[in-house]
Amino acid sequence: MGKLLIPILFLSLACSSYHHEKEELVEEPDDEQAADYTGPYRPQVHFSPPSQWMNDPNGMVYFAGEYHLFYQHYPDSAVWGPMHWGHAISKDLVTWENYPIALSPDSLGYIFSGSVVVDQRNTSGLGTLENPPMVALFTYHDQVKVLAGMDSFQSQGLAYSLDKGRTWTKYNLNPILLNPGTRDFRDPKVFWHSDSGRWIMVLAEGDHIGLYGSENLREWQKLSEFGKNEGSHEGVWECPDLFELKTTSGQTKKWVLLVSIGPGGERGSATQYFVGDFDGTKFTNSRYPEARLWLDHGRDNYAGVTWSNIPKADGRTIFLGWMNNWQYAQVVPSTGWRGMMTLPRTLELLDTNTGYQVVSYPIKEVELLRKRAIEIKRRMVVGEADWSSYLDPSQPFLDMELIITKVSGSHTWSIKLSNSLGEYTKVGYNYQTKDFYIDRENSGQVDFSKGFAGIHYGPRRRRHDQMAIRLIIDRSSIELFGDKGEVAMTDLFFPNRPYDKLTISSGEEAVLFEGVVYQLNSIWEDEMVKGIDEDRQ
Ligand code: FRU
Repeated sequence: MGKLLIPILFLSLACSSYHHEKEELVEEPDDEQAADYTGPYRPQVHFSPPSQWMNDPNGMVYFAGEYHLFYQHYPDSAVWGPMHWGHAISKDLVTWENYPIALSPDSLGYIFSGSVVVDQRNTSGLGTLENPPMVALFTYHDQVKVLAGMDSFQSQGLAYSLDKGRTWTKYNLNPILLNPGTRDFRDPKVFWHSDSGRWIMVLAEGDHIGLYGSENLREWQKLSEFGKNEGSHEGVWECPDLFELKTTSGQTKKWVLLVSIGPGGERGSATQYFVGDFDGTKFTNSRYPEARLWLDHGRDNYAGVTWSNIPKADGRTIFLGWMNNWQYAQVVPSTGWRGMMTLPRTLELLDTNTGYQVVSYPIKEVELLRKRAIEIKRRMVVGEADWSSYLDPSQPFLDMELIITKVSGSHTWSIKLSNSLGEYTKVGYNYQTKDFYIDRENSGQVDFSKGFAGIHYGPRRRRHDQMAIRLIIDRSSIELFGDKGEVAMTDLFFPNRPYDKLTISSGEEAVLFEGVVYQLNSIWEDEMVKGIDEDRQ
């Protein structure tokens, strides 16, 4: 089907603190939206939309044996536009089935980010006790008000489903939370707080988080605010999440507040977090206000939140982020689709001598994708070793679990993916600076945005000579987890030819390596519409 590129003035938001405002080339809508998961950059072990644009994960909820993922979606183009909620369902959190769009814009506005809860007690009265409603709380973004120069263009809306999320009815008294005159007023994340017996909503309000309470999900009272003078304010605050985590060491529980911040700082868009207490009304930060804690030290993990309603017997806190950065999200070189998610990760809280730290690690279900295991017996590497034979060129997606040990004199180690054009992405560690890093300076296509090329660093806290490393490599992304997730780094890359070489290097001195390299199956095997090689001319 031929596509015409027509220039239109992509006046997304006349809001100075917003980042989607842009003059863009927008593709004309496709009549048909067949899913095509081939192509050199299409992720094979990560979720991406069947076609066109995707940003934030929304409404993640577990219900009746299914994990739901909704997402910010513009079905008519591969750049940001009038937002809908796309929808996919999984039984295992790694393989996904695409479902029809769940929520579309209406006279109140576009459908921005939000969350879904299962209203087990039918507090909303929108279902029954026998068939409890799934309730979505989301932001309405009213473009008419934006163009009229009004500040009150964002409000909160509600929709519910009585058929396991297949169809959604918008509440007839929307919006349920009116805008008080705050330009940025969005991204409600809602949870049931059993101690106070009510629903709590956290909402991003420009430079702080608003906390609200409700008995029935339809009427909300403001309880408190947090954050005007805390953490990083390099960009507008977005996509909050508040949840309780038990520390790995013992019985202490703390509340963690995630806050994504829009581009502005050196990192572009990034997710910070606060650890503290929540008394049912107010969140208090345990750290000093200037502390800046980052969930991920790469550049491509944004707007992530956690799954709601995970069964008690499971007990995990499962996070998913949008593997992108607003600095360049709209111009990354993909065609027909744009945007992908990180792997789902469990979040845990570590009690260290320098304070609490959130640890994130791929969920165990990722192991379901492992197709072939290659054991690497303990070996000394001096200089460079070629490990390319571990890469299956037709399916070059890997999950590597390595134990790396310093021997006296070691300064560094690195693992490099490269191609015959000399393009490479390298991850490694520097024993002197005590930083992990991902270097994508010469990774392939980098010129589409000034901010893309670069080397990103993640500080290591532990001082042991031995470290556990996990690397998940997809067609256009790498996720690095150092010390079982104490350091997480997520970066995209776009080589002009697929990487087909894997080398490992110790620098000048020796380093010990051992572990297992797993080749992975594609999660889209059944969805392929044509051979992979056809697409790689
Ligand atoms: C975060 C965000 C949200 C907003 C959505 C719009 O990436 O800017 O604050 O709801 O994207 O698509």
